[in-house]
Amino acid sequence: MRVLGIESSCDETGVAIFDTEQGLLGQALYSQIDMHAAYGGVVPELASRDHVRRLLPLVRQVMSEAGTTPEQLDGVAFTAGPGLAGALLVGAGVGRSLAYGWGLPAVPVHHMEGHLLAPMLEEDGPDFPFVALLVSGGHSLLLEARALGDYAPLGESVDDAAGEAFDKVAKMMGLGYPGGPRLAKLAESGTAGRFRFPRPMTDRPGLDMSFSGLKTFTLNTINDLGGVAALSDQDRCDIALAFQEAAVDTLVIKCRRAMEQTGAKRLVVAGGVSANVMLRERLDAAMAKKGVRVFYPGLAYCTDNGAMIAYAGALRLAGGERSGLPIAVRPRWPL
Ligand code: KG4
Ligand code: ZN
Repeated sequence: MRVLGIESSCDETGVAIFDTEQGLLGQALYSQIDMHAAYGGVVPELASRDHVRRLLPLVRQVMSEAGTTPEQLDGVAFTAGPGLAGALLVGAGVGRSLAYGWGLPAVPVHHMEGHLLAPMLEEDGPDFPFVALLVSGGHSLLLEARALGDYAPLGESVDDAAGEAFDKVAKMMGLGYPGGPRLAKLAESGTAGRFRFPRPMTDRPGLDMSFSGLKTFTLNTINDLGGVAALSDQDRCDIALAFQEAAVDTLVIKCRRAMEQTGAKRLVVAGGVSANVMLRERLDAAMAKKGVRVFYPGLAYCTDNGAMIAYAGALRLAGGERSGLPIAVRPRWPL
């Protein structure tokens, strides 16, 4: 089965072709980050317009690089939600229409299911069942994945998503958008132990998380030092490290609890924040002690991409899933 996948839920236009026998045949990603950086965050209307400009040329490019003709495809998958309504409509409109024109089935894909399954694109990827930590710019959730489409929620952030907190703290320190990876880079030069930030919601039972208080704690620390303009380069690195350690430790504690609660032996960590090196190191160490194996996407598949949508679409298509004729998206869509 060979599927064309389209991702356009936020600020990346992603296209890929996945073949269930041969694996990933081709993919391309266009990031709008430079365009949005000037505004300090994603501007939805600009995002939609840029997807319109980029999507069809990317589809053409990937089809040609993969040496695939429409006749060789079995379906077209597109991200149907959650995400920005206008941005989603571009991918859904193009994906649904191509499928119609080519006489193929179209498959709507849940963006977070794409993230969840991304580690399966790797060699020796995870099998169901497993526990998953999904940490992106829009979501932070823990769930038990029993089979494709059978996901039991375990916990979620009650306020900001983990990636959102990284981005907001980075913005506070003038690091621009998206700040997560830049903040992580600064943290590499931080002095361990200079500041200790709280690990929110870890002193009481449960698997819900909170990152908003950590953000406020960071702001107060900056203000105690005289405001962002008064920070030395070392202050910035030290604050970045203290924030990252607190966010990472919080996620590690919640994962440890989730594994104890479920007794599962496989943990999948996916979404943009799963690219974070400290998170990977600390989780690997904590889980090794419990005999739990941790699976991550390849670094290129942590953040948004078309490959995870093509892959999830292929599984859904194989299971008989089809989209109706109307072009429909779900900007809010629980997993
Ligand atoms: O999954 P993703 O591409 O988009 C959403 O579905 O939201 O995740 C993007 C998020 C951003 O918040 C970004 O700052 C964060 O992932 N991120 C990171 C790192 N790389 C990306 N956060 C911390 N450390 C990183 N290395
Ligand atoms: Zn995403």
